[in-house]
Amino acid sequence: MAGNIPQQFIDDLLSRVDIVDVINRRVTLQKKGKEYQACCPFHGEKTPSFTVSPSKQFYHCFGCGAHGTAVGFLMEYDRLSFPEAIEELATDQGIEVPRELTFNNKGPDHKPIYDLLQKVSEFYEQQLREHPTKQHAIDYLKQRGLSGEIAKDFALGYAPPGWDNVLKRFGGDEKKLHVLRDAGLISEKENDKRYDRMRERIIFPIRDGRGRVIGFGGRVLGDDKPKYLNSPETPVFHKGQELYGLYETRQTHKQPDQILVVEGYMDVVALAQFDIRNAVATLGTATTPDHLKKLYRAANEVVFCFDGDRAGRDAAWKALKTALPLMSDGRQARFLFLPNGEDPDSLVRKIGTDAFREELQHAQPLSEFLFAKLESQVDTNSIDGLARMGELAKPLLSELPQGTFRVMMEKALEQRLGVSVDIGKAKPPENTPIKRQAKPVAASSAPGMSPVSKAVAIVLQHPNAALAELPANWRDLPEKGIEVLANLIDRVKSNPDTHSAALVEAADESLRSYLAKLAIANIAVMDDAPEQLSGILSSLLRSHQKNTLQQSLTDKPVSQMSDEEKQKLRDAFKR
Ligand code: UTP
Ligand code: MN
Repeated sequence: MAGNIPQQFIDDLLSRVDIVDVINRRVTLQKKGKEYQACCPFHGEKTPSFTVSPSKQFYHCFGCGAHGTAVGFLMEYDRLSFPEAIEELATDQGIEVPRELTFNNKGPDHKPIYDLLQKVSEFYEQQLREHPTKQHAIDYLKQRGLSGEIAKDFALGYAPPGWDNVLKRFGGDEKKLHVLRDAGLISEKENDKRYDRMRERIIFPIRDGRGRVIGFGGRVLGDDKPKYLNSPETPVFHKGQELYGLYETRQTHKQPDQILVVEGYMDVVALAQFDIRNAVATLGTATTPDHLKKLYRAANEVVFCFDGDRAGRDAAWKALKTALPLMSDGRQARFLFLPNGEDPDSLVRKIGTDAFREELQHAQPLSEFLFAKLESQVDTNSIDGLARMGELAKPLLSELPQGTFRVMMEKALEQRLGVSVDIGKAKPPENTPIKRQAKPVAASSAPGMSPVSKAVAIVLQHPNAALAELPANWRDLPEKGIEVLANLIDRVKSNPDTHSAALVEAADESLRSYLAKLAIANIAVMDDAPEQLSGILSSLLRSHQKNTLQQSLTDKPVSQMSDEEKQKLRDAFKR
């Protein structure tokens, strides 16, 4: 698709765009010398290794290796296609993307639909402030405990009574009618009988990841049926892909640790009212793989909140099965079963924010829910029952992607059955941002450089980095070159005023040309050298620990594990 937009246009655009602005609007950046830093939005981390260079107009993560330009960032972060990212940047700059370029290969132009939906959403909001019967709607929202501030954050509106409020305002001619129809805003019986879809309802605009209104949910103010009306499927609204509240969540938390999946619009909004601003709702459908992919792009942990009744448990089990193929290492899924008759809205009102958060803390990990469910289906006291459980478990566990979690689940099953099991080979992993974590750390500016070489280069070029606090036990890493790094660091420590040339000269003759090369290699490191050095070592230690754990778990039957190993298994197992 990239080929359809002339490189010249992209170059001109990029020369106007500042990558720092683009990223900073999505991930808060801290200035560090000439560069900017943040915790990487593409993998979980506590200390920032994500760097943005204004001079190079490039971002780079030293933890996971993600890197690219402003366009690449938008594609990755906002999940845009290449032309969409270009369009987004161009819009920011007030530049028109030539039409034939914008819509090449993109199918029909949906801009009129988006524009109309936005206008209609604003109309509904305005009606909530101005319509003669607005008090009715305001009283309803108040009675449900919502403040004006929350109503504003979610752009809640009011579709006033009447059959043609929207039709009259926005359907003036055939062309406009056509767009109204495409946007799912009118219902039609026969050609001459058409009317507003939403009438006398509280309006919940549904926004996509970029904040564009793509549809509406509307709730009656009383007990009429149907309680909720939703936009139909339209060219821009696909229920199986969209999550109500995800955009709003990201407005408050750029990088939420956790996202809650609830059932209703009101649950999302009520939780936000109670300061729990990381809830999303599926739109009256079961959780789909597309939903989950979206969720795990936004956060590493998803907590499903379901009714504790039979239907809720069935829905949770369905969600679990959908989640299994996505459970790469680092991701978690948990299940919160609510007391009978409660939904998150009613529960948070009853017990308050803190107690609700406490409940979340105790949500059931996926592994527990899975085994509990299987154990409830068989007689675990009989050999036949255990055999049956093995048969039930295998196809489920075989859905898990390659990784430590899969190994641990297999072990956990063995532990329960008392015999070894083989759940087969994992399917090739999906291409997700998380997967990049496993990639070796490499500087974009120095392709092919190993993490240890990069660390050596950092110490040579910024000797003061060696004085930083480094992660414990890094000297025990098995990597080639760790000894060289250790010698360099010791030398700086004993003589903090030393410099690159002196360090190279002081080394063994056999190493000098290797070190001299690294002393001048382009490594995109500025005054964040200490953090980068320690980041590289931490990341090496992490992947080393993970390999060791995985190895030991793969090698040993549970019965031969030491208590410590079993504890590790349990700890790593908490998801
Ligand atoms: P609920 O009936 O549980 O909604 O339906 P709720 O959010 O608790 O509603 P309140 O508290 O009475 O206002 C959950 C979700 O199912 C869909 C909606 O998406 C709703 O938020 N639904 C429900 C419909 O689409 N149509 C309906 O008639 C009812
Ligand atoms: Mn409810």
